[in-house]
Amino acid sequence: MRLFVFISKMVYACLIGILFFTKITLQASTPTSTYYVGAVVEYFPFSNGTNSSAIINENAKNYIKFINTAYENDVDIIVFPESSLIMKLRTNSSDRNYDLYTSSYIPDPEDNKVPCNDSSSNVLPAIGSISCAAKQYSMYVVINVIEEVNCTGDKCPENGHLLYNTNVVFDRNGAVIARYRKWNLYGEPKLNRTEKPELSYFHSDFNVTFGQFICFDILFKTPALNLVKDNNITDILFSNHWFSELPYLTSNAIQSGYSFNYDLNFLGSGFNTPSTGSGGSGIYAGRDGVIKNIWSEKRINAMIIAKIPKIINGRREYLLNRYDAKTIVFSSSEIPTINGSEPVPQMELMKDNLKAYKTVILKQHTGIQNSTLCNNGFCCHFNIQTEHRKNLIRPKLNYYRHRLAVFNGVRSFESGNTNGIEVCSIVACTNLTLKSCSRRLKINSKIVNPIIFHSIIISGKFENSQNVSRFPLSLTYNMNQLKVSDFEFTTNKFNATHNEIRYVLTKPHDDLMTFAIYGRNFTGDGLPKTLPPKKKKHLNQV
Ligand SMILES: *[C@@H]1O[C@H](CO)[C@@H](O)[C@H](O)[C@H]1NC(C)=O
Ligand SMILES: *[C@@H]1O[C@H](CO)[C@@H](O)[C@H](O)[C@H]1NC(C)=O
Ligand SMILES: *[C@@H]1O[C@H](CO)[C@@H](O)[C@H](O)[C@H]1NC(C)=O
Ligand SMILES: *[C@@H]1O[C@H](CO)[C@@H](O)[C@H](O)[C@H]1NC(C)=O
Ligand SMILES: *[C@@H]1O[C@H](CO)[C@@H](O)[C@H](O)[C@H]1NC(C)=O
Ligand SMILES: *[C@@H]1O[C@H](CO)[C@@H](O)[C@H](O)[C@H]1NC(C)=O
Ligand SMILES: *[C@@H]1O[C@H](CO)[C@@H](O)[C@H](O)[C@H]1NC(C)=O
Ligand SMILES: *[C@@H]1O[C@H](CO)[C@@H](O)[C@H](O)[C@H]1NC(C)=O
Ligand SMILES: *[C@@H]1O[C@H](CO)[C@@H](O)[C@H](O)[C@H]1NC(C)=O
Ligand SMILES: *[C@@H]1O[C@H](CO)[C@@H](O)[C@H](O)[C@H]1NC(C)=O
Ligand SMILES: *[C@@H]1O[C@H](CO)[C@@H](O)[C@H](O)[C@H]1NC(C)=O
Ligand SMILES: *[C@@H]1O[C@H](CO)[C@@H](O)[C@H](O)[C@H]1NC(C)=O
Repeated sequence: MRLFVFISKMVYACLIGILFFTKITLQASTPTSTYYVGAVVEYFPFSNGTNSSAIINENAKNYIKFINTAYENDVDIIVFPESSLIMKLRTNSSDRNYDLYTSSYIPDPEDNKVPCNDSSSNVLPAIGSISCAAKQYSMYVVINVIEEVNCTGDKCPENGHLLYNTNVVFDRNGAVIARYRKWNLYGEPKLNRTEKPELSYFHSDFNVTFGQFICFDILFKTPALNLVKDNNITDILFSNHWFSELPYLTSNAIQSGYSFNYDLNFLGSGFNTPSTGSGGSGIYAGRDGVIKNIWSEKRINAMIIAKIPKIINGRREYLLNRYDAKTIVFSSSEIPTINGSEPVPQMELMKDNLKAYKTVILKQHTGIQNSTLCNNGFCCHFNIQTEHRKNLIRPKLNYYRHRLAVFNGVRSFESGNTNGIEVCSIVACTNLTLKSCSRRLKINSKIVNPIIFHSIIISGKFENSQNVSRFPLSLTYNMNQLKVSDFEFTTNKFNATHNEIRYVLTKPHDDLMTFAIYGRNFTGDGLPKTLPPKKKKHLNQV
């Protein structure tokens, strides 16, 4: 009897899987259904030549192909990456100030205009065609554009307009229903920022409230924290053109950490260019884990389509199964933007500078290591049980070493921003130098994994503050994240001012690149960056 139930459940699951992915015209999600179907696009954009209209039109044509395929898979909402429709033309490759943008007016969502059939909406033809696709395929579509806004007055530049990095949401009728102007620009010298942040969210016809923001925004109190605090938002739309950095800030790790921390559904769509470390998309279900993600060492045009459990009165009722998500990879005849040989054998990642961190090399041995490491009065406790398989180490084989790394201070970004960071971590290094802890081994080299982490407990007593956001961040050697069943992340009240946070690895892993409690301390934003301690020989820093 039990066996029978088990088998029939399996068959049922298989049938759902097959039905879901072969049937073409299932009903769109309704207000009462327990899930909806979301899609995120990972796109390597067309950027050839110097005719910007031709570039934009070509990208729009490709967008519509993605939308068409999404339609065949009953998608309710699709998200495109940042800066992948309107490419900037860099007329001087060594100076961002020479970037030229083509821009478009975007109607005010309050006017409910449908650019497809309404020329008074004044948008670029390519954007009109995407409105038409949203209407034709009856789908919510999220795109990112350079928006032009007429202005007057003393703050208005001589040319009479401002430019914003803007997300636009079309509803199933092709109407512009939401518009978000990026608040935390990453450099982007030709672009403007609104006088005040304009948080953006909307309610869909399938009873899900979506909030949206763009790329670097995810690391900031406004909008990433403030947006979701007051507006009953359960699902985030995130378009990005991220430059992944080791050991902490890789695209998928941040998306996954954010989704987990706030327990929100998260649809992240990434601009793909491995040669600049850009790429990484995913659909995440908060504390229920990663539904599916994309991280590709090679250029790729792809789309994740997934059933996403709605969060209804704080709960996800729909139970995910493995047939609920898939990745469609487009060939170069379907989306013809990728040709020629791969420019890089693996993603070129940015490297964080850990010189100002307190670090110590993790002993390569079998046993338990207990240590407390502090930086600027901030202490992390590590309890680590490792097994060292010495016999695997041979000449010509590469392997990762590890360090404990703790930081409490302010870091800088290439964009010029300085931001407060608080980290308790274990990071992988390619050799015993500190510098090597933000590097990867060559993925095509022969690699062995001598260290098995049987268990890890990172814990600390952290000041409870509205101005710090702390999340679990993990990365494996193949640049993926730990499954939620492989770790625990708990926050408990310790006393009136402090919480105890514990990040625990509960399943053995021999592939840990980064395992960190990563905190953003918003109070540190704009302060001078923390410098490394004055040079003197540290025994524990080779
Ligand atoms: C640029 O491309 C557009 C659209 O494809 C085309 O109509 C126009 O003639 C092109 N302009 C030039 C200068 O080639
Ligand atoms: C490009 O920008 C760099 C840095 O500002 C400058 O030195 C160089 O002269 C510029 N080249 C051209 C062709 O304008
Ligand atoms: C902005 O100003 C330009 C130049 O005056 C005008 O052609 C255009 O229609 C205006 N756009 C909007 C959206 O008002
Ligand atoms: C454009 O399409 C929308 C949605 O289908 C419709 O409500 C509206 O009346 C149309 N507007 C014009 C000017 O045709
Ligand atoms: C908008 O950006 C332009 C180009 O960087 C700059 O000249 C202008 O001062 C900015 N205006 C405002 C109001 O931010
Ligand atoms: C959020 O939800 C609560 C409870 O359902 C409701 O009382 C409140 O008005 C909602 N707030 C917003 C901004 O929609
Ligand atoms: C819509 O969502 C709200 C908030 O999650 C929930 O309270 C309400 O019951 C839902 N409505 C329907 C028709 O399911
Ligand atoms: C872009 O231009 C290069 C050089 O002219 C050409 O080889 C390549 O095929 C073009 N790519 C696309 C997608 O058209
Ligand atoms: C490690 O530290 C914890 C907490 O400080 C302590 O309870 C435990 O006994 C220590 N274990 C070892 C092997 O030293
Ligand atoms: C360690 O790795 C760094 C960074 O890749 C490299 O510059 C350095 O030469 C390596 N040192 C040794 C001793 O292998
Ligand atoms: C709470 O505990 C922390 C860490 O031990 C300590 O620094 C702090 O003073 C304590 N706060 C109170 C109110 O006791
Ligand atoms: C955050 O940063 C501020 C400014 O650097 C610092 O005073 C504070 O101790 C840090 N930590 C917390 C928990 O606020």
